[in-house]
Amino acid sequence: MKNEVQISVDLSNLMAGKIGKEHGLTDAEWKSARKNATRVINECLARFGADDVGFMKLPCHTQYLHDIQALAEKHRYRWENLLIFGIGGSALGVSLLFDALCHPYHNHIDSELRNHVPRLFVVDNIDPELISGLKPVINPKKTLSCIITKSGGTVETWGNYFQYATVFNQTPDSGQVIAITDPETGFLRKFAEIQGWDILPIPSDVGGRFSVLTPVGLFPAAILNIDIVRLMDGARTMHDRCVSTDFDQNPALQLATASWSFMTSKKKPISVMMPYANSLASFSDWYRQLWAESLGKMVNTEGKTVFAGQTPVNALGATDQHSQIQLYREGPNDKVITFLHVDSFRFGGPMNNAPEETPLEHLRLLDTAEILGIELIGTRDALTESRRPNLTVKIPAVTPYCMGQLIYLYEMVTYLTGLLLQINPFDQPGVEAGKINAKKMIRELYETRSQASDKN
Ligand code: PA5
Repeated sequence: MKNEVQISVDLSNLMAGKIGKEHGLTDAEWKSARKNATRVINECLARFGADDVGFMKLPCHTQYLHDIQALAEKHRYRWENLLIFGIGGSALGVSLLFDALCHPYHNHIDSELRNHVPRLFVVDNIDPELISGLKPVINPKKTLSCIITKSGGTVETWGNYFQYATVFNQTPDSGQVIAITDPETGFLRKFAEIQGWDILPIPSDVGGRFSVLTPVGLFPAAILNIDIVRLMDGARTMHDRCVSTDFDQNPALQLATASWSFMTSKKKPISVMMPYANSLASFSDWYRQLWAESLGKMVNTEGKTVFAGQTPVNALGATDQHSQIQLYREGPNDKVITFLHVDSFRFGGPMNNAPEETPLEHLRLLDTAEILGIELIGTRDALTESRRPNLTVKIPAVTPYCMGQLIYLYEMVTYLTGLLLQINPFDQPGVEAGKINAKKMIRELYETRSQASDKN
């Protein structure tokens, strides 16, 4: 029974036997890549054993779920809206869980149909229209705010929160704000303590883009009544598979080894993530950050300039068959395409109403999920015929248990690929420079304006 709900990976369309030697991996290349995989899994296990890899500990010690559940229970049925202030790793995981595991029209259906849990709004950009536009949408008295920032001082996140208080002309009561931040440091922690807000900690050794399985993703999920215990069971199942030193039993090691081979020896600079399920579209957004920010590095761990990385691109099947596939099939052969295939959907889609004796008569006996599955296979076969490297991750169903597996799988793939590339997947020096520049300009603008107003 356990095997029936496990995610599986099919790499066969990456191999030379399917797509030829120029673009696919020959037996000899794959064998040699596997040798590096042995080095890397041993390094990973040594670091994990030395307590050096924060995100890997999360599925193993889940006591922290109690505090999340308790706070979620206090708030779950009290509010009409949950408003998330966060950006990057402090927002993408929330959207991923919401889009995957809540009703596709959650915010539009009656409270009763969504079991009286709040609607969710994730404000993850400092675009002024996002907050002002909420004015006719939410009642601030019926809204719980959740400020998420690991560093505690992210300008976009705070800017939105202060704009919210300004636009609605009121500061939320202390019982109306939850802070999710570093356990010890940062402005949010200090401010929250002064304001009397409830605080949940993000473990200090878990970085933003690896933090979805901390209170960052789990608290909003718990408020929405997503089964976070089952989600972590899924992550634990995948953890156990991903620490195996047996290459054939370890899906993360296989995916990382393949990704590394295509980035380096096969020179494929683009990674397309293409789920065939709308519920997984936000998973691609989350993956895009994880892959880009973790692996896109100028120097390796020895200080050598390497310009490592692979550009992640989002696509959604079947929609983007009508927008992207022309390029993927006939344009430059510079991509590895990952299909996410879902076996079973929550709601059915029969088409019995298709009129008889018309060109669409054959739809009468099919289901829309079957059409989606057929479209995936058709597209995949066509790409394989055109010698385009592709792989498939098979997901039995979009449930908390499977999402826990999928999230943890890709965190491990990213980490192991980083080890193969010999770069640090946990830092982001290239982002920091832009943040420092922006902070400097904000400060200068503030000083110029305050001097001008002093003169007036
Ligand atoms: O992965 C990361 O560390 C970043 O993308 C952060 O998540 C992002 O910059 C937001 O940072 P913070 O949570 O400190 O506000």
